[in-house]
Parts: sequence; structure tokens; C-alpha cells
Amino acid sequence: MVSKTFILVVCVGSLTGFSDAFWRMSCGIIQTGRIDPVVSPGKISGHVHKIAGASNIGLDSTYNTLQQSNCTSCEIQKDKSAYWTPQLYYHLSNGSFEEVPNQGMTVYYLGRGNNAANIKPFPEGFRMLSGNAAARSYNTQNLTYQNVRPIADRVSFACLQANPSAETPGMNETNCINGLRAQVHFQSCWDGVNLYKEDNSHVAYMSMMDNGVCPPEYPVQFIHLFYEVLYSVNNVNLDGGNFAFSQGDTTGYGFHGDFLNGWDMDVQTQAMEQCANTADGVVKDCAPLAASDIDDFSDVCATQAPLVQEQTGPMISKLPGCITITSGPEDASMADMVCAAGTPEPAVASGFVAVGSSSAMAQAADATALATSNASPRRRGVGWYGNI
Ligand SMILES: *[C@@H]1O[C@H](CO)[C@@H](O)[C@H](O)[C@H]1NC(C)=O
Ligand SMILES: *[C@@H]1O[C@H](CO)[C@@H](O)[C@H](O)[C@H]1NC(C)=O
Ligand SMILES: *[C@@H]1O[C@H](CO)[C@@H](O)[C@H](O)[C@H]1NC(C)=O
Ligand SMILES: *[C@@H]1O[C@H](CO)[C@@H](O)[C@H](O)[C@H]1NC(C)=O
Repeated sequence: MVSKTFILVVCVGSLTGFSDAFWRMSCGIIQTGRIDPVVSPGKISGHVHKIAGASNIGLDSTYNTLQQSNCTSCEIQKDKSAYWTPQLYYHLSNGSFEEVPNQGMTVYYLGRGNNAANIKPFPEGFRMLSGNAAARSYNTQNLTYQNVRPIADRVSFACLQANPSAETPGMNETNCINGLRAQVHFQSCWDGVNLYKEDNSHVAYMSMMDNGVCPPEYPVQFIHLFYEVLYSVNNVNLDGGNFAFSQGDTTGYGFHGDFLNGWDMDVQTQAMEQCANTADGVVKDCAPLAASDIDDFSDVCATQAPLVQEQTGPMISKLPGCITITSGPEDASMADMVCAAGTPEPAVASGFVAVGSSSAMAQAADATALATSNASPRRRGVGWYGNI
């Protein structure tokens, strides 16, 4: 059992003892729906995600299809990666689910780890998942390399108040006047061989999660990827119900993030070489990134009409998919989160059409059902609190 005090000491140590070179970029939402080309390629996924990044993200996206995107809803246009997390809902006391406003995320690329001087770019075709959608309690059993801290610390929440309270590994406090920030750390150690494994054993966390060393079986060090997602829980009228993520999780321990690499390899390689150990957080100060950095990314690359033809908000009577709401402490089962074989599935649009376009697909779809809420542009700097 690892004590809270111990974890705190490790965190403080990681911030003071090592270099803090990093860059961060703002991203708007490009697509919402049951789409997950990392975990469920080619299929309708189990639960709703909000996706940031390359415009032609789809059910079966690959490195090559991402490259063909016209644009990305993130700042750096040479980064055609896709980044996603589950959608948050408020489960009203009358049974309906209200989509909690969220306008995108901040993606951090942090030059961390004892081997930070040797950071390698994410290869073409690389993808990974961090987190466990089924988790409903804080697992203290599974630890990082050298048993430094629980792997469950990859996910955390910050309730943004006038006087900020400590971050928690679960969604403890949801009455947050400035919103609730969900955060996920990714694995920075790679086996050097596999672009993906279903159990994500192609990657591992650093010993201190956001710093430290890689296990010897994972000799390749990536830059440290970290997402912050700000949910406007303060815009929801609390009525005695509770918040739940799209996979039926009221605890937050099942929060997770996915990454599908779509970087222009030359740009990424140059950024790793020139900026991973010196960047001051500002994209404009890293020449290889600044060359394709735009300020109006959310307008240039607006939220696309949903591909999966089902309603995901703003007020719905049930969670999309075959989801049972669970609150732990035991993990959710597959049956709680995945549809049984033979369950009818919604249609999937074949094209990629900007919201508001009068295309055949948009006309064919029920305009009310498919209205994308919260499509307002996310501006540079929104949601930046610098608390990393
Ligand atoms: C529950 O309340 C919300 C907010 O008043 C409303 O929009 C929704 O239609 C209600 N749902 C049901 C099932 O009555
Ligand atoms: C710990 O990790 C192992 C290997 O990934 C996994 O099979 C197991 O379910 C985890 N234990 C818990 C309690 O989550
Ligand atoms: C958060 O909630 C969990 C589950 O209810 C509880 O065990 C834990 O002590 C809480 N943590 C804090 C900091 O309140
Ligand atoms: C992408 O750009 C091409 C060329 O400008 C254009 O024909 C196409 O409609 C665009 N696609 C989308 C989805 O905007």
C-alpha cells in the first residue's frame, strides 16, 4: 500500500528535480461519437468519445488516412494526429443525460525522464491507450516500474475553485465554479518493435509516471504525452443526479485517453531534436512547430458533422451504446459497456462534412438529433492553467 504522503513527495520531487522543457497546444473538437480507431478499428465503439485533431478521423483511421486530412482542429497543422477521451454527461434525477460542455483539450508534449536527451519520435502507425475504461476505484495493486507509484495515477482530476483543492485520482469533487479538469498521462517507454498491442503492452509508464526511468524491456523513450480536458460542470444545473462518463462511470477512475500518431515525421523529428529539452511551453518559440502553427484553428477546422448517426447530446434519454451505469468499487464488466452480438447499430456516414453544410448527408440526417452542441470555437489559451 502506497501512502498519499509518499505519492505527494514523489510528485513534488518530479517537478523540482528535472528539466521542465515542454510545449503545449490547444485543440478544438473535430468529431463526437462512438468512434475509436485505436481500440475498435472499423467498428462502432462501445462508448462516445470527443475527438480532437485530424479532420478525416473515422472508424478505421490509419496513419495514411490521417495524412489526407484537410486540416486539424489543433494548432499545429503539420500534426495530423488524433487525440480523444470519453464524453462526460450529467445524469439528471429524472433519468435523462445532459452533455457536459467541453470545447476541446490541451495536449502537452513534455521533455521528461532521465533519458530525455534521447527522446525518439512516435513512429508512423503508432497508437496507444492510457487508462482503463472499466476501472471504478483507485487500484493500488498495479505499480509503475520499480514500484514507485500506482499506475492508477495516470488519471487525475482538478476541481477548479477559487481556492484549488488537491488533485484526486477519481472524480471526487464536481461542484467546481471554474470547471472540472480531467487529466491523463501516457506511457513514454516503448518496446521499439510493436506499433500497437491490444493490451498496450507495447508501451510502459516511466517509473515516476511523469518522470524517471523506463523498464529495460522498453528501451525507446518518447516525449511525455499528457492531456488536459476542461469540463464546464459549472454550466450544469445540479438537481440531485450525478456526473457519469460515456462508458457508464460515475467515479472518474475509468477516464482514459487515446492517441493515434499522425505527425509529419520530419516536423516531429525536428521538434524532438530541437525543442524537447529546451521548449518553454510556447509553440511559437519552437521553429519546426511554429512554421505550421495557426491561431484560428477552431474556425479553419471546425467540428465535423457526426459520422455515427445517433444522438450524443445535448439532452438524451440513455447513453449511446449498451451502457450500464456503475459506481464500483469493483470494475465494470464487459457486459456493462459493450453491446451483445446482434444488437442493431446506427448507420455510419461515409463522408466528412463540416457542420452547417447543406450536403446530402446532413440533409438526410435528423438535423435536431445531430446538432453538435458546444461547437463554438475554442481559442488559444482557453483551459490553460499551467498546472503540470
Ligand atoms: C429531464 O429534465 C430535463 C431538464 O429539465 C429535460 O430537458 C428532460 O426532457 C427531462 N427528461 C425527462 C425524461 O422528462
Ligand atoms: C493489473 O495489471 C494486470 C496486467 O495489466 C491486469 O491484468 C490486472 O487486471 C490489473 N489489476 C487490477 C486490480 O486492475
Ligand atoms: C475520493 O473518493 C474516494 C471514493 O469515495 C475516497 O476513497 C477518497 O478518500 C476520496 N479522496 C479525497 C481526497 O477526498
Ligand atoms: C478538403 O479539401 C478539398 C480540396 O480543397 C475539398 O475538395 C474537400 O471538399 C475538402 N473536404 C472537406 C471535408 O472539407
